[in-house]
Amino acid sequence: MLFKQQALLRQKLFVLGSLAIGSLLYLVARVGSLDRLQPLCPIDSRFGPRSQDEIQLRALQFKRGLLHEFRKGNATKEQIRLHNLVQQLPKAIIIGVRKGGTRALLEMLNLHPAVVKASQEIHFFDNDENYAKGIEWYRKKMPFSYPHQITIEKSPAYFITEEVPERIYKMNSSIKLLIIVREPTTRAISDYTQVLEGKERKNKTYYKFEKLAIDPNTCEVNTKYKAVRTSIYTKHLERWLKYFPVEQFHIVDGDRLITEPLPELQLVEKFLNLPPRISQYNLYFNATRGFYCLRFNIVFNKCLAGSKGRIHPEVDTSVITKLRKFFHPFNQKFYQITGRTFNWP
Ligand code: A3P
Repeated sequence: MLFKQQALLRQKLFVLGSLAIGSLLYLVARVGSLDRLQPLCPIDSRFGPRSQDEIQLRALQFKRGLLHEFRKGNATKEQIRLHNLVQQLPKAIIIGVRKGGTRALLEMLNLHPAVVKASQEIHFFDNDENYAKGIEWYRKKMPFSYPHQITIEKSPAYFITEEVPERIYKMNSSIKLLIIVREPTTRAISDYTQVLEGKERKNKTYYKFEKLAIDPNTCEVNTKYKAVRTSIYTKHLERWLKYFPVEQFHIVDGDRLITEPLPELQLVEKFLNLPPRISQYNLYFNATRGFYCLRFNIVFNKCLAGSKGRIHPEVDTSVITKLRKFFHPFNQKFYQITGRTFNWP
């Protein structure tokens, strides 16, 4: 009898203990995720001293969490009105480059409490059908945010699409533009790997990279191959510079974002006039993934999807050498224009 009572008591204690731990974890997760919703200075204004900033943050603490509910689609129209939530046009756009690390950059910037990301690639400026729907359609695709937060979207096709610079200029001539680049040959192989995987998924066969990248008639680099063309960064950038001054662009080193993300993110925070809020705590190396993953708080962390960080096929070294030689003069020009030099071969 006594034994039975003790077992019952132990069971009750176990249930109560689990409930208490669960609630505690929930609260920690909640507070952590709410922290990132606290307002900071707007993109255009330089941030003031930290103490001032903190007074403002405390005053607005009651707003915590609402945006999170919105993202999940749980908030009502009344709540949107009450808390002045808005769908804002982006103040900064990651315009490319495809396979440069655009998703990682967007997700990592989203760690910043003053940044709200548009999760999907919207393809407003590069897709004529979408563009014809008008700017209000585009704005309504944006996530809800507090007015002092900035919205960032990424659509890597923007960088290489002819019409896009003029269209973005017409929306906002002072918008900030982020371009994340990787060593051009690696980027081209990454681009190829993505297409190859798509073909394999559909049980289709595909050419080898070497066959696509080198023109079999001339044995020279095939400049008609899209993966090669996209990596000629300077050619695309020159089109953008007809509309925007070079100061409106920030070049992110995509290779360094893989190995050492924090300093790259700090440069972006500076470029966007945001107070430095992303720290080493927010980024941890996941040995299984082989990449840095994101930590929002002690409970909530995430790595990018498995489609990011594919294993590249082995490519003939003579083709790699040929491509690197081909890209070399374009790279030099790119360094010269942007003022950012890379150790690309
Ligand atoms: P690979 O798949 O070639 O490795 P994008 O998002 O523009 O498509 O870029 C994809 C690339 O982002 C990946 O290319 C990967 O190397 C890179 N990347 C950078 N940081 C990453 C991270 N933390 N997790 C996963 N991939 C990351």
